[in-house]
Amino acid sequence: MPRVSKKLSIIHYGHPSLLRAAKPVSAVDQEIRELAVEMISMMYAAPGVGLAAPQVNVSRHMCVIGVDEGREKTELVLINPKIVSVFGLEMVMEEGCLSFPGIHTHIIRPSGVEIEAIGLDEKPIKLRAEGFLARVIQHEIDHLNGVLFIDYLAEQERQRLENSLERLKGKTIKKFGLASVAQK
Ligand code: NI
Repeated sequence: MPRVSKKLSIIHYGHPSLLRAAKPVSAVDQEIRELAVEMISMMYAAPGVGLAAPQVNVSRHMCVIGVDEGREKTELVLINPKIVSVFGLEMVMEEGCLSFPGIHTHIIRPSGVEIEAIGLDEKPIKLRAEGFLARVIQHEIDHLNGVLFIDYLAEQERQRLENSLERLKGKTIKKFGLASVAQK
Protein backbone atom coordinates (compact mmCIF):
# COMPACT_ATOMS: atom_id res chain seq x y z
CA MET A 1 0.00 0.00 0.00
CA PRO A 2 1.49 3.38 -0.94
CA ARG A 3 2.33 5.63 1.94
CA VAL A 4 -0.03 8.56 2.20
CA SER A 5 2.11 11.65 2.40
CA LYS A 6 0.64 14.23 4.70
CA LYS A 7 1.75 17.79 5.00
CA LEU A 8 3.74 18.36 8.14
CA SER A 9 3.50 21.45 10.29
CA ILE A 10 5.20 22.58 13.45
CA ILE A 11 3.10 22.10 16.56
CA HIS A 12 3.21 24.54 19.45
CA TYR A 13 3.26 24.47 23.23
CA GLY A 14 -0.01 23.10 24.54
CA HIS A 15 0.04 20.17 22.11
CA PRO A 16 0.38 16.95 24.12
CA SER A 17 2.74 15.34 21.58
CA LEU A 18 5.50 17.70 22.74
CA LEU A 19 5.43 16.05 26.15
CA ARG A 20 5.80 12.46 24.94
CA ALA A 21 9.06 10.59 24.47
CA ALA A 22 9.51 9.72 20.80
CA LYS A 23 9.76 6.15 19.53
CA PRO A 24 13.20 4.91 18.54
CA VAL A 25 13.92 4.68 14.81
CA SER A 26 14.19 0.98 13.97
CA ALA A 27 15.48 1.36 10.41
CA VAL A 28 16.73 4.21 8.26
CA ASP A 29 14.22 3.64 5.49
CA GLN A 30 12.60 5.78 2.81
CA GLU A 31 10.13 7.25 5.30
CA ILE A 32 12.93 8.41 7.59
CA ARG A 33 14.95 9.85 4.70
CA GLU A 34 11.95 11.80 3.42
CA LEU A 35 11.16 13.00 6.92
CA ALA A 36 14.74 14.25 7.35
CA VAL A 37 14.64 16.18 4.07
CA GLU A 38 11.32 17.75 4.94
CA MET A 39 12.40 18.63 8.47
CA ILE A 40 15.59 20.30 7.23
CA SER A 41 13.66 22.48 4.83
CA MET A 42 11.07 23.35 7.49
CA MET A 43 13.83 24.25 9.94
CA TYR A 44 15.53 26.65 7.53
CA ALA A 45 12.21 28.11 6.39
CA ALA A 46 11.05 28.83 9.94
CA PRO A 47 13.89 30.00 10.37
CA GLY A 48 15.42 27.95 13.14
CA VAL A 49 18.63 26.14 14.06
CA GLY A 50 17.11 22.81 15.09
CA LEU A 51 13.95 20.78 14.77
CA ALA A 52 12.96 17.51 16.42
CA ALA A 53 10.46 15.04 14.95
CA PRO A 54 7.98 15.42 17.85
CA GLN A 55 7.74 19.11 16.90
CA VAL A 56 6.18 18.07 13.60
CA ASN A 57 4.02 15.61 15.52
CA VAL A 58 5.96 12.56 14.37
CA SER A 59 6.99 10.18 17.12
CA ARG A 60 10.49 9.29 15.93
CA HIS A 61 13.72 9.65 17.87
CA MET A 62 15.29 11.95 15.35
CA CYS A 63 16.24 15.60 14.98
CA VAL A 64 17.90 17.93 12.50
CA ILE A 65 20.29 20.75 13.24
CA GLY A 66 21.54 23.61 11.09
CA VAL A 67 23.95 25.94 12.82
CA ASP A 68 25.85 28.69 11.03
CA GLU A 69 28.64 30.12 13.15
CA GLY A 70 30.26 32.21 10.44
CA ARG A 71 33.32 30.21 9.50
CA GLU A 72 31.67 26.96 10.44
CA LYS A 73 28.40 25.61 9.14
CA THR A 74 27.08 22.44 10.69
CA GLU A 75 24.13 20.51 9.32
CA LEU A 76 23.24 17.31 11.09
CA VAL A 77 20.59 14.64 10.93
CA LEU A 78 20.74 12.76 14.22
CA ILE A 79 18.88 9.47 14.42
CA ASN A 80 18.43 7.87 17.85
CA PRO A 81 20.87 10.37 19.37
CA LYS A 82 21.89 10.07 22.97
CA ILE A 83 24.02 12.18 25.23
CA VAL A 84 27.08 10.20 26.33
CA SER A 85 28.48 12.90 28.59
CA VAL A 86 28.46 16.59 29.29
CA PHE A 87 31.49 18.65 30.14
CA GLY A 88 32.62 22.22 30.75
CA LEU A 89 31.05 24.93 32.82
CA GLU A 90 27.37 25.52 33.27
CA MET A 91 26.57 28.31 30.86
CA VAL A 92 23.70 30.77 30.60
CA MET A 93 22.44 31.30 27.06
CA GLU A 94 19.27 32.70 25.55
CA GLU A 95 17.06 30.05 23.98
CA GLY A 96 13.97 30.05 21.86
CA CYS A 97 12.06 27.19 20.30
CA LEU A 98 10.03 26.84 17.12
CA SER A 99 7.25 25.37 19.27
CA PHE A 100 7.24 28.53 21.42
CA PRO A 101 6.93 31.41 18.94
CA GLY A 102 7.81 34.76 20.49
CA ILE A 103 9.15 33.29 23.74
CA HIS A 104 12.82 33.62 24.64
CA THR A 105 14.49 33.02 27.94
CA HIS A 106 17.88 32.38 29.48
CA ILE A 107 18.64 28.75 30.26
CA ILE A 108 21.57 27.19 32.10
CA ARG A 109 23.14 24.10 30.53
CA PRO A 110 26.59 22.51 30.37
CA SER A 111 28.75 24.19 27.71
CA GLY A 112 29.89 20.93 26.14
CA VAL A 113 28.30 17.67 25.12
CA GLU A 114 29.37 14.35 23.69
CA ILE A 115 26.78 12.39 21.75
CA GLU A 116 26.29 9.22 19.78
CA ALA A 117 23.75 8.82 17.02
CA ILE A 118 23.17 7.23 13.64
CA GLY A 119 23.38 9.28 10.46
CA LEU A 120 21.14 9.14 7.40
CA ASP A 121 23.79 6.90 5.81
CA GLU A 122 23.26 4.54 8.77
CA LYS A 123 26.82 5.11 9.94
CA PRO A 124 27.45 5.81 13.61
CA ILE A 125 28.07 9.43 14.53
CA LYS A 126 30.22 10.34 17.50
CA LEU A 127 30.38 14.03 18.13
CA ARG A 128 31.89 16.32 20.70
CA ALA A 129 30.49 19.83 20.58
CA GLU A 130 30.89 23.02 22.56
CA GLY A 131 29.20 26.40 22.78
CA PHE A 132 26.21 27.19 20.58
CA LEU A 133 26.18 23.84 18.75
CA ALA A 134 26.29 21.95 22.06
CA ARG A 135 23.39 24.10 23.24
CA VAL A 136 21.25 23.30 20.20
CA ILE A 137 22.05 19.59 20.40
CA GLN A 138 20.97 19.43 24.06
CA HIS A 139 17.77 21.35 23.34
CA GLU A 140 16.82 19.05 20.43
CA ILE A 141 17.64 15.79 22.21
CA ASP A 142 15.48 16.99 25.09
CA HIS A 143 12.54 17.25 22.66
CA LEU A 144 12.96 13.56 21.84
CA ASN A 145 12.46 12.76 25.50
CA GLY A 146 9.45 15.03 25.92
CA VAL A 147 11.51 17.65 27.76
CA LEU A 148 11.04 21.34 26.92
CA PHE A 149 13.33 24.31 27.57
CA ILE A 150 10.77 25.83 29.92
CA ASP A 151 11.22 22.79 32.16
CA TYR A 152 14.49 24.39 33.28
CA LEU A 153 13.02 27.75 34.33
CA ALA A 154 13.51 29.07 37.81
CA GLU A 155 10.28 29.97 39.58
CA GLN A 156 10.67 33.72 39.07
CA GLU A 157 11.24 33.43 35.32
CA ARG A 158 8.39 30.95 35.02
CA GLN A 159 6.11 33.52 36.62
CA ARG A 160 7.35 36.23 34.26
CA LEU A 161 6.48 34.06 31.27
CA GLU A 162 3.30 32.57 32.67
CA ASN A 163 0.88 34.80 30.79
CA SER A 164 2.63 34.34 27.45
CA LEU A 165 2.73 30.59 27.96
CA GLU A 166 -0.94 30.40 28.89
CA ARG A 167 -1.86 32.50 25.84
CA LEU A 168 0.16 30.25 23.56
CA LYS A 169 -1.35 27.12 25.09
CA GLY A 170 -4.84 28.52 24.61
CA LYS A 171 -4.16 29.28 20.94
CA THR A 172 -2.72 25.81 20.38
CA ILE A 173 -5.65 24.07 22.02
CA LYS A 174 -8.04 26.05 19.81
CA LYS A 175 -6.05 25.44 16.64
CA PHE A 176 -5.77 21.69 17.12
CA GLY A 177 -9.14 21.17 18.81
CA LEU A 178 -7.42 19.72 21.85
CA ALA A 179 -9.63 21.03 24.62
CA SER A 180 -10.38 17.63 26.09
CA VAL A 181 -6.81 16.39 26.31
CA ALA A 182 -4.63 19.42 26.91
CA GLN A 183 -6.38 21.16 29.77
CA LYS A 184 -3.99 20.13 32.42
NI1 NI B 1 12.70 23.52 20.63
